[in-house]
Amino acid sequence: MEGLPGLRLLWALAALGNAASEIAAETYPPPVTNFSISVKNLCTISWHWSPPEVVNTTCTLWYDSYLGENQEISSNNYRVEEVALNERICLQVRSLCSVASTNPSDAVEMCTLPPEGDPESAVTRLQCIWYNLSQMNCTWLPGKKTPPKANYTLYYWYHSLEKSLRCTNYYMEDQLTGCSFDLHKVNVSSSDKIQIMVTDTTGTIRPSYNVILLNSVKPDPPIITVLSLQNDSLYVEWESSENFESSCLVYQVQVTDSKPKTYRVEEAKSKCYISQASQELSGNSREKNCLVIELTDRDTQYTVRVRAKTSKYCFEDVDLWSAWSPEKIIGQKPDLTFYTITLLSIPIAISISTLLLLLYLKRLKIIIFPPIPDPGKIFKEMFGDQNDDTLHWKKYDIYEKQIKEETDSVVLVENLKKTSQ
Ligand SMILES: *[C@@H]1O[C@H](CO)[C@@H](O)[C@H](O)[C@H]1NC(C)=O
Ligand SMILES: *[C@@H]1O[C@H](CO)[C@@H](O)[C@H](O)[C@H]1NC(C)=O
Ligand SMILES: *[C@@H]1O[C@H](CO)[C@@H](O)[C@H](O)[C@H]1NC(C)=O
Repeated sequence: MEGLPGLRLLWALAALGNAASEIAAETYPPPVTNFSISVKNLCTISWHWSPPEVVNTTCTLWYDSYLGENQEISSNNYRVEEVALNERICLQVRSLCSVASTNPSDAVEMCTLPPEGDPESAVTRLQCIWYNLSQMNCTWLPGKKTPPKANYTLYYWYHSLEKSLRCTNYYMEDQLTGCSFDLHKVNVSSSDKIQIMVTDTTGTIRPSYNVILLNSVKPDPPIITVLSLQNDSLYVEWESSENFESSCLVYQVQVTDSKPKTYRVEEAKSKCYISQASQELSGNSREKNCLVIELTDRDTQYTVRVRAKTSKYCFEDVDLWSAWSPEKIIGQKPDLTFYTITLLSIPIAISISTLLLLLYLKRLKIIIFPPIPDPGKIFKEMFGDQNDDTLHWKKYDIYEKQIKEETDSVVLVENLKKTSQ
């Protein structure tokens, strides 16, 4: 509205002649005044300024503002941005006398103050993933100087909330700490951002901010509803979370016989003939997805699973696949137990027969060479050898046998003598 009187003036001047408007375009206006800044919600920064006090009557005021590299030329005397407030954020404003003027005023700059506290106490890697378009999970890592038992608090805000809310559902996941809160797609639009701030209850750690675009979306895993073998093909049909329109998801179908093959499915709905019939019957408007795969081998068992991610038509491509769906199995497995038993039984049979053979050989040895009844004593008596070393014994094995025979005969003679007496 403020531009209107100026426009009328320019109109009047233009009527006076071209020379006048050329002079107006070359005027350097004074800088803006009364520059102020305010922060709302968690990360909504608004800069306000007033027009320069003395302006040439030929000047139609425009403002050229820079937020870092981000330029905006507007006739509004304010600028509002959502920016993570982790450091000083500065806006530079120059006034112009026409929208395309190359003669701006001097710049006036206004900055936010960085958050208070030791920067190394702030949490790091603050990020969020939107699960199933229904739940936001934000995670972070402690900073170098974050106290180990910090009582974290996370605040969040998006456009349909009056004020920022405190997250209540905290959890640990490996090194990461996280908090999750409900965020249903009906409450936000895809152009919205979510403002996040993590600090602790006692205020000892420096607040950490993030402004999250709603495109890190991880769908729920699909569910396979139909898996059937038809002639020489495999028919797979699945459902995805009802929160997604089917054109907003792409799928991977993985079919494993001996080794996994993966199929990418983008336009899946065309050939779902089974579901079309059942849809008509049930009046279910939910779109189904399917894939028909030519089979090379019917006499095999197939394991099938499906996963989903958002498509680039609906969300920015962030490559966040869902978990795999529960597996479904179809087909005749070649009798694996038979093979397994056969394969396993060969080494077992060999080991058992080897063992039996060894036992048998040992038995045979006992029969051929019967054990000598306590030869040690006699041996020792005869030779007075006190060496008990078994190795030593073995060396003399044969020798010992000969001696034993002699000994036996001596004993026999002695006995004979005894009985005869
Ligand atoms: C400066 O801004 C304040 C509020 O934004 C306003 O009340 C005041 O009149 C302004 N001063 C000038 C000189 O424009
Ligand atoms: C995904 O969203 C749908 C619809 O809101 C809901 O019924 C379903 O339970 C959600 N899935 C999970 C895992 O929360
Ligand atoms: C964290 O909060 C709990 C309960 O609110 C309290 O019992 C505990 O002492 C706090 N821990 C620290 C380190 O402040």
